[in-house]
Amino acid sequence: GDNLMFLAHRHDIDIEGACEAALACCTCHVYVETEDEHWDLLEEPTEDEEDMLDMAPYLQENSRLGCQIT
Ligand code: FES
Repeated sequence: GDNLMFLAHRHDIDIEGACEAALACCTCHVYVETEDEHWDLLEEPTEDEEDMLDMAPYLQENSRLGCQIT
Protein backbone atom coordinates (compact mmCIF):
# COMPACT_ATOMS: atom_id res chain seq x y z
CA GLY A 1 0.00 0.00 0.00
CA ASP A 2 0.83 3.67 -0.03
CA ASN A 3 2.19 5.43 2.97
CA LEU A 4 4.17 8.53 3.74
CA MET A 5 7.46 6.66 3.79
CA PHE A 6 7.05 5.10 0.34
CA LEU A 7 5.74 8.39 -0.99
CA ALA A 8 8.81 10.15 0.33
CA HIS A 9 11.06 7.55 -1.24
CA ARG A 10 9.41 8.04 -4.61
CA HIS A 11 10.26 11.71 -4.33
CA ASP A 12 13.83 11.04 -3.29
CA ILE A 13 13.22 12.18 0.24
CA ASP A 14 15.50 10.11 2.34
CA ILE A 15 13.69 8.85 5.38
CA GLU A 16 14.66 5.49 6.69
CA GLY A 17 12.44 2.47 6.75
CA ALA A 18 14.48 -0.48 7.87
CA CYS A 19 11.60 -2.92 8.15
CA GLU A 20 9.77 -1.83 4.99
CA ALA A 21 6.62 -0.78 6.85
CA ALA A 22 6.27 -4.04 8.78
CA LEU A 23 5.93 -2.09 12.03
CA ALA A 24 9.06 -3.76 13.37
CA CYS A 25 11.39 -0.81 13.72
CA CYS A 26 11.23 2.90 14.45
CA THR A 27 13.69 4.15 11.84
CA CYS A 28 10.87 5.82 9.93
CA HIS A 29 10.09 8.05 12.94
CA VAL A 30 8.88 11.49 11.83
CA TYR A 31 7.42 14.56 13.45
CA VAL A 32 4.11 15.70 12.05
CA GLU A 33 3.46 19.41 11.66
CA THR A 34 0.56 19.99 14.04
CA GLU A 35 -0.14 23.48 12.70
CA ASP A 36 -0.80 22.00 9.30
CA GLU A 37 -4.39 21.82 8.11
CA HIS A 38 -3.91 18.13 7.40
CA TRP A 39 -3.10 17.30 11.01
CA ASP A 40 -6.77 16.83 11.86
CA LEU A 41 -7.21 14.44 8.97
CA LEU A 42 -4.67 11.97 10.25
CA GLU A 43 -5.89 8.68 11.61
CA GLU A 44 -4.91 8.02 15.19
CA PRO A 45 -1.92 5.71 15.52
CA THR A 46 -2.78 2.09 16.16
CA GLU A 47 -1.76 0.36 19.36
CA ASP A 48 1.02 -1.42 17.47
CA GLU A 49 2.35 1.87 16.18
CA GLU A 50 2.22 3.36 19.68
CA ASP A 51 4.17 0.41 21.06
CA MET A 52 6.87 0.83 18.45
CA LEU A 53 6.92 4.61 18.91
CA ASP A 54 7.62 4.09 22.59
CA MET A 55 11.02 2.77 21.54
CA ALA A 56 11.80 5.67 19.26
CA PRO A 57 14.42 8.14 20.43
CA TYR A 58 13.31 11.73 21.06
CA LEU A 59 9.64 10.84 21.17
CA GLN A 60 7.35 13.85 20.95
CA GLU A 61 3.65 14.52 21.11
CA ASN A 62 3.57 14.75 17.33
CA SER A 63 5.75 11.70 16.69
CA ARG A 64 4.51 9.16 14.18
CA LEU A 65 5.97 6.32 12.22
CA GLY A 66 6.26 7.53 8.66
CA CYS A 67 5.28 4.20 7.18
CA GLN A 68 2.01 4.17 9.11
CA ILE A 69 0.72 7.49 7.84
CA THR A 70 -1.59 6.88 4.92
FE1 FES B 1 9.78 0.04 10.17
FE2 FES B 1 8.11 2.02 9.62
S1 FES B 1 9.71 1.24 8.39
S2 FES B 1 8.11 0.75 11.34
